[in-house]
Parts: sequence; structure tokens; C-alpha cells
Amino acid sequence: MIAGYARRLPNCRNYATNRKIIVQNPIVEIDGDEMTRLIFNTIKEKLILPFLELKRDYYDCSLINRNKTENQVSKDAAAAILKYNVGIKCSTITPGPEHIKEYNLSSLWPSPNGMLRNALNGTQFRESVICKNVKKYVPGWKKPIVMARHPFGDQYGGTNITVPRGSQLSINLKNENVEENIKVFNYKAKGVAMMTFNTEDSVRAFATSCFRMALERKYPLFFASKSTLLKEYDKLFDEVFQDIYNKHYKQQFEEAGISFEIRLIDDMAAQAIKSKGGFVWALKSYDGDVLSDVVGQGFGSMGLMIHSIISHDGKTVLTEPAHGTVTRHYRQHQEGKTTSTNPISSIFAWSRGLKHRALLDNNEELLNFTKSLESSTIKTVESGWFTKDLAACIKGEGFTDSDYLSTTGFINAVSAHLIQNK
Ligand SMILES: NC(=O)c1ccc[n+]([C@@H]2O[C@H](COP(=O)([O-])OP(=O)(O)OC[C@H]3O[C@@H](n4cnc5c(N)ncnc54)[C@H](O)[C@@H]3O)[C@@H](O)[C@H]2O)c1
Repeated sequence: MIAGYARRLPNCRNYATNRKIIVQNPIVEIDGDEMTRLIFNTIKEKLILPFLELKRDYYDCSLINRNKTENQVSKDAAAAILKYNVGIKCSTITPGPEHIKEYNLSSLWPSPNGMLRNALNGTQFRESVICKNVKKYVPGWKKPIVMARHPFGDQYGGTNITVPRGSQLSINLKNENVEENIKVFNYKAKGVAMMTFNTEDSVRAFATSCFRMALERKYPLFFASKSTLLKEYDKLFDEVFQDIYNKHYKQQFEEAGISFEIRLIDDMAAQAIKSKGGFVWALKSYDGDVLSDVVGQGFGSMGLMIHSIISHDGKTVLTEPAHGTVTRHYRQHQEGKTTSTNPISSIFAWSRGLKHRALLDNNEELLNFTKSLESSTIKTVESGWFTKDLAACIKGEGFTDSDYLSTTGFINAVSAHLIQNK
């Protein structure tokens, strides 16, 4: 592995002394854990702060500080995002029993993600950064597939239980007009059960943000579920999407030359593999969770996948890497070894968050900076500089240690391209 980035590029020295771009309003910075915390620090030091006069409302949501503040810091961070409308978040540990001793925890403080998602009440969008030289596991994909996930209710808000042998399970539905017991199953042996829920309002808000995203990207939109099986549950999603499309988006879609279709999820999964990409794929929460990882890996590496949550009114955006804190690499770092962790998803968390700040503030200089940061990152990979996870996709399985850069070496290479781009 090459630990530094030795290649000299013109103008490198002068750029940092240039006037910094003024960002009028603050962004909320949410710090996190392990490898991604180190990566976020290096990105700020090399790719953001030398170029921007940026006010950051900072919240340290690392597990250590969540424990110290009894998780008040996550609540404060959620309130700040709603105030300033832009949050840029580092990945954070969701602690398990194994973390109690390592971090001396007084409780298993949850990841801030659930609290932030609920505060935003938005839609999760994920897509992969495309670099021409990264061989995709699905070679036909030429354009991004934007995965839209409805992160409310369903399995994530539901209740699941173990049921003893000999039990009868029913759903008790009660309101001011009616009380009804709906029989579900008689257990002759031990089993399990799960009850999930959703609401029409939440599905309406989800559908609206998907239509808006499709129009912004000028991509066709597909909503896929299993409404032939879940004739009440998934049918609600189908009906809401169709209703909103007919009433509010049909004409705009036709003018933009894009289409909207409701598909069965199995049919759509097969269609997605055969496609060239270039569409928005809207999914219920569990389907979106699973299939966005399939699509992320299909494009080459999870390190290339970017993630944002957009509130349903489109005003507030939270960006973060799509992957976790990369504990395995952090352990290598703790042993004093040089790591090669892909920081692209973290760089794009910064560029997409700042892009939203630029759009809200009408700040063209900042908007151009975010475009430059993204194109410099892609150009770095396309000119042959990348981290280990991409080496197999670019060089093939027989790659050697000299084929890839260290984590910091890659960020330095992006910095050099960013300076050259100016
Ligand atoms: N958004 C978030 O905050 C978030 C998301 C997922 C997981 N997590 C947390 O992260 C911690 C670690 O979780 P995990 O190990 O299951 O998932 P992870 O995504 O951190 O890593 C899983 C594996 O994927 C590969 N990988 C992931 N990102 C990579 C990158 N940028 N470059 C190179 N390889 C990469 C590595 O092989 C790694 O071992 C857990 O505490 C988990 O709860 C946080």
C-alpha cells in the first residue's frame, strides 16, 4: 500500500492561500466513532476547512459522549438539524453488550440514527458514485440507481414476540365505533409472531418526496411492493402513489419525458438487474434496507454508496456515509497499522450536505465548490488512485499492495485534484 500521495500537481501551494468561500449559514456537524471519525477529521482538515469559511454547530455523538451526556447530545443534534436544515453526520456505533466494558457504558445508548430519522420524518435516498474504471458486479449498470426507502413503521416500528405452544393469536382493533378481534393463528407448537403498521399520511409524504426526486434527476420512478400478497397493506402504498401521481405529477412527468410505474417487487428486482440504471426505485422500509445493499455492492463497493435523508417538505437534509464505522479497520489502526479505508461515501456526505446549504442560501460559489469536490474525487479514482476495496474491482483479484493508497493517501490525492480543478 502506498501511504502517501507523492505526485506533484500544479498550483497546489497557492490555492490554500486563496480567499475562502463564505458560507452564510451554519451546518450541523455530528461526529461519530472509530474509523469514520478519523476519516471525517481528515476530510475537514484537507478538503473542507482550507477552502470554506464555515460555521459548524458541532455535536459529538460518539459513543463515549452519548454515554457521558446520557444521550442528551443526540436530542440536541436532532433539534439543531431542524433549526439549520443541514446536518452532516459521521457513522456511529450501535452498542451491543461487547461495548459495555470497552466504553465503560452506564447503558446501551442507542445509535442517534433512529432519533434523527424520526425528527426529520423524511425519506432515505441512497445511490452509488460511478467511476468509469470501477468494474461493476452488474456490468450493465451505467447510470446510478437511486434507492428511496420509506423509513417509517413496518418491521422497524412493529412488535415481534415468541409465542408459546397452545396459544391463540388475534389482533384486537378498537376505536370509538368498534371493537373487533381478528383471528390470526392457532399455535400447536412454539412459534413467533410480528405485528407491523403504517399510516396513509406517512406514505403520502414518502410518495411526494419520491416524485420530487424523480423530477429533480429526470429519472423514471418505480414503486415496487408485493400488493398481490398483502392486498390491504401494500395496496395502500400502490393507491397512494397512483393517486398523488394522477393529481399532482402526471403532467410534470410527461413534460419532463419521464414515467411512473407501480411494479411487483420480484418483477422489478429482475428488471433492475437487466437495466442500464438511471431510475429512482421507491421501496417500503425493509425492502429498501435489503435491496439498497444489494444495489450498493452491485455497483462495486459499499464505500461508494452515498446516503441522505430528505424531510418530506424538502427543506431539511441529513447526509452520512452509507456504511458503518468500519470497526475491523479501526482495530488495525489501534494496532498502529496503516489502513486503506474508502472515504468516498464520507466525502460525498460533506459535498451533498454543503450542496443543500448552497441551494438554501443561493450560494453559487459554494455550489460550484461541492461540484468540484465531487468531480475531483471521481477523477482521482479514474486516474488510478484508490483504496484497497476498489483494487479488486479495478485491477482484478491479482492486485498487489502497491496498487492502492492508504486512507490518508487517498484523501491527499483528492486534495491535489481539487486544487488542480480550481
Ligand atoms: N450510519 C451509521 O451510523 C451506521 C450504519 C451501519 C453500521 N453502523 C455501526 O458501525 C459499526 C460497525 O458495523 P459493521 O462492521 O457491521 O459495518 P461497516 O459498514 O462498518 O463494515 C462492514 C465491512 O464492510 C467493509 N467496509 C465498509 N465500509 C467500508 C469502507 N468505507 N472502505 C472499505 N471497506 C468498507 C469492511 O470490510 C467492513 O469490515 C457497528 O457499531 C454498527 O452499528 C453505523
